Amino acid sequence: MFPVDRPRRLRRTAALRRLVAETTLRPEDLVAPLFVGEGLDEPRSISSLPGHAQHSLASLRAEVGALASAGVGGVILFGVPTTKDEVGSGAYDPDGIVQVALRDLRDTYGDDVVVMADLCLDEYTSHGHCGVLDSCGAVDNDATLELYARAALAQAEAGAAVVAPSGMMDGQVGAIRSALDESSHADTVILAYTAKYASALYGPFREAVNVEIAGGGDRRGYQQDYRNRREALREARLDIDEGADIIMVKPAMTYLDVLSDLASELDVPLAAYHVSGEYAMVKAAAERGWLDGAGIALEQLTAVKRAGADFILTYFAREVAEGLNP
Ligand code: PBG
Repeated sequence: MFPVDRPRRLRRTAALRRLVAETTLRPEDLVAPLFVGEGLDEPRSISSLPGHAQHSLASLRAEVGALASAGVGGVILFGVPTTKDEVGSGAYDPDGIVQVALRDLRDTYGDDVVVMADLCLDEYTSHGHCGVLDSCGAVDNDATLELYARAALAQAEAGAAVVAPSGMMDGQVGAIRSALDESSHADTVILAYTAKYASALYGPFREAVNVEIAGGGDRRGYQQDYRNRREALREARLDIDEGADIIMVKPAMTYLDVLSDLASELDVPLAAYHVSGEYAMVKAAAERGWLDGAGIALEQLTAVKRAGADFILTYFAREVAEGLNP
């Protein structure tokens, strides 16, 4: 018998496998995206995101409590306003639904839960774009930055520990950092959606927030082209120079190469967003009995960590965190 290397030796028992596992998924690695609907007395379910709802203020408070008990790393809020307009006023109105919800959560949980706010206009604009439009109907980058700065202040004022600009406008991180620093919110963290790709995987999210892009339009003029890999590094360096504290890749599973690049090249914390379509695909197949949903959720989220993410925004946060707890 010649000597062979036997990697299987380390796979013999569950205890050995656990001892040598390179990647560990913990509840605190997960951040739960949550929707809050203006004027709702009861949560309203979202058919393409089973287990999720547009929350009322009361159900949001309860859900955040349950998530905190499960040990998740944080929550990120998205607002569903009752009215929209051309300039997305609800995003920066101090009485806009997310600002109201942020104050409520701050009063209830203080600094015990990391509460983040998605910072964008698309939920609040009548045309569904992430910025304001110029006279030709194109998204006006620099006019949008002024509104993002106002939204950042409104969110920070209302108690967001982290603001997360998701609109992919050039210069958005710099504009928000300056606005925060100039107004006594130097401690507010910026989690930048740095490499956010124009993806077909956002469909269920758009149902969740009632967003339809006018005229059958899309976001390819501002979100990244999925044919590009190195471009993500360029975006990341810009965001870090402008003051991003954390950078994020979105979606997750189809961009593990990008995550891996950013993890090896950069030294800021790195997040990934396992998006609505990624969740819905697993849920739909599991519902049909075609796949083991819980098994896939764990495998996918662990893979995202293995590729380099420090934490993951995921609609699986609560169920996976609860499953990880003894
Ligand atoms: C924009 C935003 C989107 C998502 C998060 N922030 C939608 C978009 O870019 O069209 C998608 C998240 C998901 O699909 O889970 N505010």
